[in-house]
Amino acid sequence: MSEQKSYGLLKGKKGIVFGPFDESSIGWSIALAAHREGAEVAVSNIAVAARVGKVKQLSELLGTPLILCDVTNIDELNAGFAELKEKFGTVDFIVHSVGMSQNIRKEKAYEDLNYEWFMKTLDVSAISLHKIITVAMQHNAINDFGSIIALSYIAAQKNYWTYSDMGDAKALLESIVRSYGPRLAKRGIRINTISQSPTMTRAGSGIDDFDKMFEYSNLHSPLGNASAEECADFAVMLLSDLSRKVTMQNLYHDGGYSMMGTTLPFLRLMHHALQHDELVKQAGFEEFAPPQLKSEQVR
Ligand SMILES: NC(=O)c1ccc[n+]([C@@H]2O[C@H](COP(=O)([O-])OP(=O)(O)OC[C@H]3O[C@@H](n4cnc5c(N)ncnc54)[C@H](O)[C@@H]3O)[C@@H](O)[C@H]2O)c1
Repeated sequence: MSEQKSYGLLKGKKGIVFGPFDESSIGWSIALAAHREGAEVAVSNIAVAARVGKVKQLSELLGTPLILCDVTNIDELNAGFAELKEKFGTVDFIVHSVGMSQNIRKEKAYEDLNYEWFMKTLDVSAISLHKIITVAMQHNAINDFGSIIALSYIAAQKNYWTYSDMGDAKALLESIVRSYGPRLAKRGIRINTISQSPTMTRAGSGIDDFDKMFEYSNLHSPLGNASAEECADFAVMLLSDLSRKVTMQNLYHDGGYSMMGTTLPFLRLMHHALQHDELVKQAGFEEFAPPQLKSEQVR
């Protein structure tokens, strides 16, 4: 359980976090931080993940129900929210911390996506937010003036080669937040995404060259990469009454990365690399260089 000081920001609130798998998960840290701040927190994951992961231990630690459901399946969501209401009551916040791409896992190139998997990526990682909200509203399971957050990544705005179809999923996720925003606002409910730094989790490390993305992002973030625990603290603020007029936003939680161009050490490193053919070839720069920089002109 988190040792950090509690400000009691979520005292008297109840919520559900979809997606904690193990201690590395961002959803895990959010559930613990919300609990630390005084909330009662139910947790949810797909049954197979609960068997291999640790979400059951988390629910035991929190002393709250574990709701097993596949967030892409409306029947399971219906059963899940019925169970939640019966065992736990209605909630003040919902956290969507779910994502998965089979194309990334199986290292399919973006130019050669398996379209069934692509649809699955969009369903699990984005449309599931729509499904969760819709079913929660139908069950009257979320209270007025509540807060909903989902986890995003800057690949929704910019190209990150290895993030593949997850970039498309994040763009859709952020769009769903904007589309649902005014509708939820009628009941004072707000909805936002947190665009988080690369974080060493099970989903994160499934991405090709993730360690290098992590390092690159850390070098380009004036405050350094944000950890899952730091993300959880920011999430608490968005779940609390201190952010009651913040809605439909994509909020960068990335140590300043999204506003950086480049850094001098990085420019020097690039310059050095471009001067040494072998290094350039090894790094694969030629594949990405614009036509006029190809071959001899790289020097
Ligand atoms: N790790 C990063 O670098 C990073 C950065 C920015 C945003 N995010 C986002 O944070 C969120 C949480 O990911 P994480 O990095 O903590 O990884 P994680 O693997 O710990 O969490 C992803 C969770 O999604 C669950 N899930 C997958 N399919 C599901 C389904 N059909 N129904 C219900 N649950 C399902 C998994 O079981 C897992 O618990 C994701 O949206 C991810 O894209 C991650």
